[in-house]
Amino acid sequence: MVKVLFVCLGNICRSPMAEAIFQDLVSEKGLDDQIVIDSAGTGDYHVGKSPHEGTIQKLTDAGINSSGLVARQISEEDYLHFDYIIPMDDDNLDNIRKQIDEDSTIVVKKLLDFVPDSEVKNVPDPYFTGDFDETYELVFEACQHLLNDVKVKLEPLQEEY
Ligand code: 4NP
Repeated sequence: MVKVLFVCLGNICRSPMAEAIFQDLVSEKGLDDQIVIDSAGTGDYHVGKSPHEGTIQKLTDAGINSSGLVARQISEEDYLHFDYIIPMDDDNLDNIRKQIDEDSTIVVKKLLDFVPDSEVKNVPDPYFTGDFDETYELVFEACQHLLNDVKVKLEPLQEEY
């Protein structure tokens, strides 16, 4: 089992979009029972709320399920539970790094750093840009690369059975 947590600031635009897209890709590959997926925000502004309507609209247009997504703030427990913690931008990364020991085995890596030679390093925040299409395209491509990375982690685990 590999556990993946996507992190942004508010947990209403980027990270729930990443969670839903990644869940869709994982389900498509039949890996639901091997990969746990969640998302959280570094801030608490929107705790308990559904994703931003722009994120829901974009996911719906793409045929991706967005039900059940509820904003929450990242907690200390998350740093014990997850194998991958994937921030959307440098600010989220800095916040996460402050909470993690240097010798931690958690993979902490920005989502777009999974894309080889990506010119864009931080997922643009559509809460401010208003451009949910741009964010969706970047997140979708990166989630495909992330899944390849996670699958490599799963392979040695499968050999243990
Ligand atoms: P997110 O976008 O981090 O992608 O969910 C934001 C949502 C809300 C706020 C900031 C960013 N806010 O300041 O309320």
